[in-house]
Amino acid sequence: MLNIAIFASGGGSNAEAIINHLKDHPYLSVRLIVSNRKSAGILDRAKKHGIETLLINREGFYETKDLTAKLNAYQIDLIVLAGFLWLIPEYLVQAFPNRVINIHPALLPKYGGKGMYGHHVHQAVFDNKEKESGPTVHYVNEHYDEGNIILQARCPLAPTDQPEDIARKVLSLEHQVYPVAVEMVGRFIQNGEI
Ligand code: GAR
Repeated sequence: MLNIAIFASGGGSNAEAIINHLKDHPYLSVRLIVSNRKSAGILDRAKKHGIETLLINREGFYETKDLTAKLNAYQIDLIVLAGFLWLIPEYLVQAFPNRVINIHPALLPKYGGKGMYGHHVHQAVFDNKEKESGPTVHYVNEHYDEGNIILQARCPLAPTDQPEDIARKVLSLEHQVYPVAVEMVGRFIQNGEI
């Protein structure tokens, strides 16, 4: 089995889509949910699915660096960021080379970087009167939203679409493509291709 840890800070709708998609998968298993927010909706969802959770704080994450040992104890092979808003520190990227992936709710390299998350992204897309948007799945390096792109999906935007409409369209695409992308990266690892 290849063990996946999903990191999430918020509601966790992407995390749940991945959990549902990988249920009964022959070699991929969502082993752990990691969150930095005690009140994050994802923790309830994890409980419902009987998946173990780990709550982290800023000091443990950036200073004591004990997360690597914890992830190793769970034999984690792949880290999947799903609405996780803290920058991944260098020690973790190095401990998991090509083994950390993220979804961003815009067509990178546009609308990425620090401060570009959630509604800020969709507001910027709206302000610039973009004709399309969509999520990007990418490998994670030490910089926000800069790792190699794995896949993107696009949806057309109507001139009447408000930022909330854009958010809804993009999130619905995220639920379709992220589980498939996670499965694809899992297959790369299983086949020794990355
Ligand atoms: C998703 O739209 C995801 O792309 C975004 O947060 C949302 C989480 O929703 N991530 C970022 O903005 C990262 N820069 P969810 O908790 O319902 O999956």
